[in-house]
Amino acid sequence: MEHQNIKGEKVPSLGLGTYRLTGEDCVGAVSLALSMGYRHLDTAQMYGNEAEVGRGIGDSGVDRGEIFLTTKVWPSDFARDKVISKTRESLKKLHTKYVDLLLMHWPGDGVPLGETLGAMRELQEEGGVRHVGVSNFSPSLAQEASEHVDVFCNQVEYHVYRGQDALLDQARALDYLLIAYRPLSRGGVEGDATLHEIGEAHDKTAAQVALRWLVQQEKVAAIPKATGEEHLRANLDVFDFELSNEEMVRVSSLSR
Ligand SMILES: NC(=O)c1ccc[n+]([C@@H]2O[C@H](COP(=O)([O-])OP(=O)(O)OC[C@H]3O[C@@H](n4cnc5c(N)ncnc54)[C@H](OP(=O)(O)O)[C@@H]3O)[C@@H](O)[C@H]2O)c1
Repeated sequence: MEHQNIKGEKVPSLGLGTYRLTGEDCVGAVSLALSMGYRHLDTAQMYGNEAEVGRGIGDSGVDRGEIFLTTKVWPSDFARDKVISKTRESLKKLHTKYVDLLLMHWPGDGVPLGETLGAMRELQEEGGVRHVGVSNFSPSLAQEASEHVDVFCNQVEYHVYRGQDALLDQARALDYLLIAYRPLSRGGVEGDATLHEIGEAHDKTAAQVALRWLVQQEKVAAIPKATGEEHLRANLDVFDFELSNEEMVRVSSLSR
């Protein structure tokens, strides 16, 4: 596993996304992923699976301290008291004393940004949250957030068909992690001829090339969601090859 260095901390470049993973499938996927070497997990209050993610962590036997765990607050809960009560609930469900990263899931409307981020900072001060970040924020909104908190991350849709040049520049300038969600374009990269051709040269699949292209970029991590053993293993197996500069540019040119 490779890491990205953010504000002096090493964060695993590849994590497991858990949107739409529920029930025993979720418990099983989380536990299996951790047993394979995943050390970064992404959930959200809105996914309704925090208890299952927590059980998966417990079942795996992997030490909590080795795992980078993210959850997110939904915009309807952006008022101060709600942020605090909902996140305390998350900690109970996840069976943990802290999350490594707490995100605003989407930009809100109504509640001032400073109120929501202030509540997240309070949680940080009491030790329930290590880092605070945002998700689906434009560069200007992320800049505004950085006036209230030390933004650790902006989690956005980023994959070979969707460029994020402005946010990448900002991530490097502000030293935050750009977490690429939907990194496989929901499985849509599988049949891509260019990715397939590049993959053949490295004995990798199109999906593995799509992930490698992300994690090879400075300040970028990816959180593919996968259910079964085959996909979980394939997605983790992207740290034993490197794309050349020319291949990186070729993949970048796929974004429409
Ligand atoms: N912050 C936000 O607003 C936001 C929004 C969307 C997503 N997210 C996060 O990002 C995570 C990932 O995004 P996503 O779930 O939308 O899409 P994704 O990770 O791009 O794609 C998941 C799909 O790809 C399939 N897949 C996984 N590994 C594969 C492989 N090696 N080869 C071929 N297909 C493969 C999965 O199938 P199987 O399940 O059958 O393995 C699933 O159907 C989410 O789970 C969530 O944690 C965040």
